[in-house]
Amino acid sequence: MRTLRAAALLAAALLLVVAAAQAATGATIQTATDATYGLHLTDADGNSLYLYTQDTPQASTCVDACAANWPAFTTDGDPVAGDGVDASLLGTLTRGDGSVQVTYAGAPLYRYARDAKPGAINGQRLGGVFFLVSPQGKAIQDAVAQAAPTLSDAELAALMNEGQQTFAANCAVCHGDQGQGKVGPAFDKNANLGNTNYVIDTILGGIPPHGMPAWGGVLTDEQIASVATFIRNSWSNAYGPVTQDLVTAHR
Ligand code: HEC
Repeated sequence: MRTLRAAALLAAALLLVVAAAQAATGATIQTATDATYGLHLTDADGNSLYLYTQDTPQASTCVDACAANWPAFTTDGDPVAGDGVDASLLGTLTRGDGSVQVTYAGAPLYRYARDAKPGAINGQRLGGVFFLVSPQGKAIQDAVAQAAPTLSDAELAALMNEGQQTFAANCAVCHGDQGQGKVGPAFDKNANLGNTNYVIDTILGGIPPHGMPAWGGVLTDEQIASVATFIRNSWSNAYGPVTQDLVTAHR
């Protein structure tokens, strides 16, 4: 009788331990492959995670307005390493508001508020300070080697020429006829333009609350490809062409 009771108690205690361990299970970090930037860290649902180059190891400097755009990636327990993630690089820090933020190789991790769905990387390279994170914990600065769109010099010149006209007719009023910026941000030396997906999505959908109109219903895919090519490769910019096919794929 006695042993049976002890066994039952032990079993109950074990169940409690298991339940407690489950309750404390933290956020899972895994990896996804982006066509341009390759393998990078995401949350369990595939939402991109970013690091901020102004942070120091195990300390977040992204607060207030910054944190509204870049919500800290938080956890309720120890973070869990999913596929492709190095568990020994995972850590946490406690933010000023008491929430626990996940770190990777010391870098505090963030989501980007305008990444509406898994797979979006709209925050990549923004301001030249937010980057996707490699499984090694490094900021992903450059596109992985990929077949650059094959355009002849003549095709590129035609795209630039058409883009210049679309720009003058629709964009210069807010972005400045020399890309110097007016109501809208300057395009010359603007690192955000290096993010092809962000440029296409911003032109197609606009950012209406901030005064950037949506052009998806106004311009054709060809016009959007040409104007994107023009702003990415004029003045001192050299970010490469955007093809009509890529714009169509973003519709
Ligand atoms: C009525 C003014 C207006 C017009 C016209 C306009 N934009 Fe904008 N654009 C803005 C504003 C304002 C922003 C900044 C939005 C923000 O800060 O969120 C912006 C942002 C952008 C960005 C993102 C830049 C960055 O640094 O993140 C791109 C790309 C862009 N516009 C392209 C275009 C193109 C191409 C056209 C023409 C087809 C155009 N815009 C026409 C006002 C305008």
